Amino acid sequence: MSIITEAQIIAALSTVNDPDLNRDLVTLNMISDVRIESGNRVSFTVMLTTPACPLKEQIKQSCIAAVNAQVPGVSAIEVTMSSKVTSSCGHHGGHHHGEPHTCCSEKPLKNVKNIIAVASGKGGVGKSTFAVNLAVTLAKTGAKVGLIDADLYGPSIPTMFGLLDAKPVVAEKNLVPLEKFGVKLMSIGFLVDTDTAVVWRGPMASSAIKQFINEVEWKELDYLIFDMPPGTGDIQITLVQTLPLTGAVIVTTPQDVALADVSKAVSMFRKVDVPILGLVENMSYYELPDGTKDYIFGHHGGEIFARTHGLAFLGAIPIDRQVREGGDSGTPYILDHPGSPTSEAVNRAAMEVARRVSITNAENAAAK
Ligand SMILES: Nc1ncnc2c1ncn2[C@@H]1O[C@H](COP(=O)(O)OP(=O)(O)OP(=O)(O)O)[C@@H](O)[C@H]1O
Ligand SMILES: [Mg+2]
Repeated sequence: MSIITEAQIIAALSTVNDPDLNRDLVTLNMISDVRIESGNRVSFTVMLTTPACPLKEQIKQSCIAAVNAQVPGVSAIEVTMSSKVTSSCGHHGGHHHGEPHTCCSEKPLKNVKNIIAVASGKGGVGKSTFAVNLAVTLAKTGAKVGLIDADLYGPSIPTMFGLLDAKPVVAEKNLVPLEKFGVKLMSIGFLVDTDTAVVWRGPMASSAIKQFINEVEWKELDYLIFDMPPGTGDIQITLVQTLPLTGAVIVTTPQDVALADVSKAVSMFRKVDVPILGLVENMSYYELPDGTKDYIFGHHGGEIFARTHGLAFLGAIPIDRQVREGGDSGTPYILDHPGSPTSEAVNRAAMEVARRVSITNAENAAAK
């Protein structure tokens, strides 16, 4: 009987490509802990770039098939699927904004791997709802997730997480974020009384938000999600210019894609070189009890807009009364309704966001 070697296993796995990153798993440094026991029992670990990888099962099966096809005499294969989220700043600094950027070098953001803005051209399209469910979904996969409510005029995260009376504490001069459902949270609503109308001038508003970034103990995060205020005004532009964003997710409703607002949001990010991870169409359709879909606001508008503007389409989320009720009740929808068609749609969109982050980071790393 011939002896199976580690080199044979590595050679076989170097023929398996990550379908998104278009390179093989060995080159991508995704293979570790190769072991051969009792002469013919093989085990190894595949380190994905996100625990929310939608291709996890496919990659695992490809690895098994490659080893079986290329290494004779293997009696058993054990594959451990693990993950380590890649960072938009890479390991050696450098950033697409061309200026020295803080997330690698300075406290306290140095351990935040990716910052994702959830934005829209128009208000009320479901940004906060998506941001909250995205955060909770990614946290459920095992990722470390934070969420910032950047809407100074109408903070919604305290309500959506059932934390209306909560106050963050200060430790060593920095604010400690609140934590619920596995997500670290910061909102202007935790700091000011939401009943008192606060009139934020532009500079004051952006410095308040900079504090959320720089004076909050986020510690280690794979994804920090930024629920942006609606529109493309001064505050939004300052935010996208100053934050070290990995990318932006644009939320729209089908009837709004025809409006100039969505294009304005797209242009805003493109102007400052922030990659747009893709577009989510919210309130896409209403599912009738018999399972048929009523496209109340028109069919596939978001998908067509995405295609014509060169954006990835991240998914369509239906109109669902329980989504709104979830927002009002303080428990994010997907936690109360796991497995429902709407949760599945949210889940797919969240996985796509994580996937686009991995792809964007791989492309940036390759371009350096
Ligand atoms: N898919 C959905 N089905 C039903 N209701 C929804 C859905 N998405 C959002 N909503 C509801 O629509 C309203 C607006 O949503 P949300 O606050 O998330 O929008 P927004 O874009 O963050 O608004 P703003 O621009 O004011 O920040 C909320 O009442 C929310 O519960
Ligand atoms: Mg909002």
